[in-house]
Formats: sequence, structure tokens, C-alpha cells
Amino acid sequence: MLIAAVILLLSIFWVELVRDFYHWLAHQWPTLYRLHGWHHRVFRPDLSVVSDTIYKEAHWYNDVPEALVMLTFGLLFWFTIAQFNLAYSWTGSAGSIYTLTFLVGAIARGAGVPKADELTDITHRPGDFTSIPGDLFVNKPYHWRHHFDNQNAYFCGTLTFLDKVLGTALSLKGKKIAVTGASGTLGLALLKYLHLSGAKITALTSSNQEITITNKEENIPVKTISWQVGKEQELLTELEKIDILIINHGINFHGQTSQEAIEKSYQINTFSSYRLMELFLSTVKTNQDIVRKELWINTSEAEVNPAFSPLYELSKRTLGDLITLKRLKAPCVIRKLILGPFKSNLNPIGIMSADWVAKQIVQGAKRDFRNIIVTINPLTYLAFPVKEFFVSNYFKFFTNK
Ligand SMILES: NC(=O)c1ccc[n+]([C@@H]2O[C@H](COP(=O)([O-])OP(=O)(O)OC[C@H]3O[C@@H](n4cnc5c(N)ncnc54)[C@H](OP(=O)(O)O)[C@@H]3O)[C@@H](O)[C@H]2O)c1
Repeated sequence: MLIAAVILLLSIFWVELVRDFYHWLAHQWPTLYRLHGWHHRVFRPDLSVVSDTIYKEAHWYNDVPEALVMLTFGLLFWFTIAQFNLAYSWTGSAGSIYTLTFLVGAIARGAGVPKADELTDITHRPGDFTSIPGDLFVNKPYHWRHHFDNQNAYFCGTLTFLDKVLGTALSLKGKKIAVTGASGTLGLALLKYLHLSGAKITALTSSNQEITITNKEENIPVKTISWQVGKEQELLTELEKIDILIINHGINFHGQTSQEAIEKSYQINTFSSYRLMELFLSTVKTNQDIVRKELWINTSEAEVNPAFSPLYELSKRTLGDLITLKRLKAPCVIRKLILGPFKSNLNPIGIMSADWVAKQIVQGAKRDFRNIIVTINPLTYLAFPVKEFFVSNYFKFFTNK
């Protein structure tokens, strides 16, 4: 029975993979794009249809051939499984039967059958976005970005698996990204890798210096804005224009326990980050904001592991829990950066290099990981997801709907 279920799920996963690969290929191979391009001519940014004729044509030129390719490979899967003479080989046909529903839907839309679009084309229906882009499954906000954010990303149709593998589950190209703690070790490294990914970067710093990043011995000046803890509100106009805000500033008073150290730790690490988070979330207003805007917040693996600095751990854990709470109903994606020890002004004995950590963060974001863990401590990869799962569900249970 278990084998039957595994074969059945694998056959569906396989045809979905074929669909997404076909879509990816259509964007690499001009001959295939001549067919697929019809699909990109159909919709306006509010997902209303440009013309009924183009809508129908697009199904004959794109959706029907796509479903036929899926069906061919689905049948090939079934044929291959049948060679093993297993008791449940017939479950290998599930992918082909599943594909037939898409083929029938595409033919019905192409033929202009009434209501076929409403019933079968759910990622292209006009109307407000009621959720943020899906994580494991493609929803309308996720797919919208393929049409109107970057056609060379967001290729998946149902499962986001292939985009995660290819690193096309989030496009940073052209995104306006601001980073706090910009003059710090990780801040500078993040700015560099975001710039290399095609983002338009802004440095937010509490210092008075103009920020410059260095890449291959070339100095690149960065748009720099000064801000101070407690004066987050002054950044509102700027944050309205920003697509992704990375809250990265932080301080570590190590073994101190004075009232001043406690208050400063919480003000800098927790409350200024929390205020910036609320301020940025208040700028998410339109459909486009829901899918383009994101918050990435650097909490640290101190959320689940010792950082040998109790005050630092307390302030970062509180921040981590506040993010978990806010994520339950957040109007846009909020990512946590869960980092292990790297060498910086804050941690001169850190083991990893900030450059390597920043590169992993950017790669993790492109794979749409909502919790980006970069550490040398294997326990964190286990402990953090478990902690996040239980805390998140506990918060969900005891918060108002
Ligand atoms: N290093 C590690 O091992 C490690 C591990 C996990 C997480 N982290 C986190 O990674 C982030 C970056 O740290 P880093 O290691 O790169 O340290 P860093 O080089 O000391 O950078 C931290 C930056 O935070 C900003 N900052 C410090 N005090 C501030 C204040 N009072 N008000 C506003 N901004 C202030 C400063 O940037 P500006 O002068 O530009 O404002 C400072 O350069 C921090 O949140 C840290 O907690 C570090």
C-alpha cells in the first residue's frame, strides 16, 4: 500500500516537474518561446484579459502543447514503472490521469467554454491578492511575479520545487533593497551581493559616513541614508519606496548586566528592529506591494543556541518571538536570518567569514527560504525549525483570528 502511494505521488510530482521544466525551457529557447509568448500577451497587471481572441489562442499555442508534453512524459513514467511488474504498477498512471484534467481544461478555455476560465485557471483570476506568495505551492501572488516582476524567474506552476532548485523563487533584479547596520561587517557584504544580484541598494547607517562597497578592487558608492535608533518614523517616506528592507543592525554587550547595557540591548536589537518592522509593514498597501515587498530580519542562532552573551541572547530571542508573532498575519513575506558565528566588529572571534555568510543569505532568499539558516552548528538546522514550528502554532492558537 505504501509503495502504491509513493508511486502515485511520484508520478504526479514527475508531471509537475515536466511542466515546470517545459516552462523554463520556453524562456531559454526562442523557438519554444514563440508558442509560450502567447501566454505572456494575454494579461494586464490587474490580470484582466487583453482580448478574448488572444486568451483563446494562448491556450491552443501554450497550455495545450504543455499538457501534451506532460502527458507524454507521464505515460513514459507509467511504462517505466510497469517494467518492474510490481503489484501496484497501475498507480503509475496517476500522473497521466492528473494531466488529462489540465488538458481538458486547456481545450475548454481554448474553445471558449463558458466558466472554464473561472474553474480551471485559478492563478490568473483578476481581483485583490488575499495572501502572500506561496512557499511550497504556487498561488496567484506567486505566479503574478512571473508575468510582471521578472519573466526569467518564478517558472513553477503548482509546486515551487524547481524554482527553489534553480534559485528562481525570488528575483532580486531591479528590486530596491535597503540594509540597516550598513557600515558593519555583514552589512557591507550583504550590500555587495545584493548589488551583484542586480538590486538597487540603499545603505541605512547610524554613522555619518557615506557607504562604499568594494568588488574586485572597484569601489562602488552606495546611496546612503542616516538614521538613529528611536527616530525610525523619519524613514517612512524612504521605506515607502523600498521593496525589501533588511534589518541587520545589532550590538553585543557581552557579559555586561548594567541597567544601561540592558536598556541599550533591547532598544537597539529588539525595539528599534520591531519599530522598523511595523513601519515597513504599514507601507504594504497594493497588490504589487504584497508580492514585491519583503522584510528580512537578522535575529541570530542565539534564538535557539547559546551565544555566550546572556543579554544579547535575551534581546535577540525577544525579537525572534516578535517576528514569529507578526508573521502570523503579515501582509508581505518576512524572512528570518538565523546566523552562526562569523568574524565581525561585533564578534572578532567568529568562525565563518561575513562575505561567505552574505552570499549564502542571498542564495537562500533566491530559493525563497523563509528562515535562512547559515551556521556551522548542525544543531541549529534541527532545533530552529522545531522551535519555530511549536512557537508559531502556540501563538496562532492563542491569538485572535
Ligand atoms: N557576528 C556574528 O557572529 C553574528 C552572528 C549572528 C548574528 N549576527 C548579527 O548580524 C548583524 C550584523 O552584525 P555584524 O556581526 O556585522 O556586526 P558589526 O560589524 O558590528 O555591525 C553591526 C552594525 O550595527 C549597527 N549598529 C550598531 N550599534 C547601533 C546603534 N546604536 N544604532 C543603530 N545601528 C547600530 C552599526 O552599523 P551602522 O553604523 O551602519 O548603523 C554596526 O556597524 C547584527 O544584528 C548581529 O547581531 C552577528
